[in-house]
Amino acid sequence: METEILKVSEENLDYAAKRAAQTLLDGGIIGLPTETVYGLAANTYDTDAVRKIFRVKGRPQDNPLIVHVSDFVMLKDVAEVNARAVEMAKVFWPGPLTMVLTKKPVIDQVVNCGLPTVAVRMPSHPVAQAVITAADVPLAAPSANISGRPSTTSAQHVADDLKGKIPLILDGGNCEIGVESTVISLVGRHPVILRPGIISIEMIRDVFPDTEYSEAVFKEVGENERIESPGMKYKHYSPRAEVVVIKSTLQQFIDYVSARAGDGVCAMCFDSEQEDIMIPSVSYGKKGDGFSQAKRLFTVLRMMDKLGSVRVFVRAPDETNESMAVFNRLYQASGFQVVEL
Ligand code: TXA
Ligand code: MG
Repeated sequence: METEILKVSEENLDYAAKRAAQTLLDGGIIGLPTETVYGLAANTYDTDAVRKIFRVKGRPQDNPLIVHVSDFVMLKDVAEVNARAVEMAKVFWPGPLTMVLTKKPVIDQVVNCGLPTVAVRMPSHPVAQAVITAADVPLAAPSANISGRPSTTSAQHVADDLKGKIPLILDGGNCEIGVESTVISLVGRHPVILRPGIISIEMIRDVFPDTEYSEAVFKEVGENERIESPGMKYKHYSPRAEVVVIKSTLQQFIDYVSARAGDGVCAMCFDSEQEDIMIPSVSYGKKGDGFSQAKRLFTVLRMMDKLGSVRVFVRAPDETNESMAVFNRLYQASGFQVVEL
């Protein structure tokens, strides 16, 4: 299949949105930018198209998709909207927050893998909004990467993974945020964060102080364990190389990696640390600045593959506020290999 990559600007937004909507309503699946990462989108109500998403990504059949809406009418079509959801939407939507709510009957089990719930998000990216509005249906969309690989934050990343497998990629430039949305369950007694994102637990606790992290955020979950976020079960965000996260001072890091230098051994560090590190190293952002790290993280993880790395030592980010999202992705990419010096 020929993959068209269509550059979208303010001038052709309307045209691009209509083209995309037509492809979606004809049963096609497309790559499109959001403020977090690129999505691989289908018409939520077209079960054949949704099945294509799983096929093309190689996504496990029991990992449900996020449904993207552009207004509250669409939200109410797909989910039971409780008081907490209304409050959260007021504060954080449109934006990088996904709410897990009780589903409405219209959600087919192919979308949410037969769960009683559905995950819903209203993206703020103008291209995503324009496409949903033009299609006038909610769009089911996971991140636009081959399952298990780092998510995609540019049209080029999407093409690297999916060229020849989908008809259309809308190129909206680099994603502003760079890591996927915060996923929060609002169906239990307390709000539970299933996946940390740029909207941090600290921000959410300003609205609902009783918000907690799911256990799955901190530990590897076994194949048969019951988990609220099915996505946490699978290895994620992995370059082909082995990733090891190092919690230490810069000097300890330098000593540790120097002692382990060798073919294909690389480092991921913070800005201006490269010159002091004896092995090939790439910065993934400013020290202590989760926003700048989030924006570059997946690009650098993908770069590690291009450099032919076999082992990557990573300077650990902080574990508070927006940095927690970065720590979580690295923690998962490493298969929970963290070395504390
Ligand atoms: O920022 C994002 O959220 C991006 C953009 C494209 O919107 N999408 C994204 O989708 O990251 P995906 O499929 O890569 O991740 C969806 C996550 C998975 O961890 C999945 O298990 C979880 O959301 N999820 C989806 N539906 C759920 C449900 N009903 N209950 C619990 N977790 C759910
Ligand atoms: Mg994903």
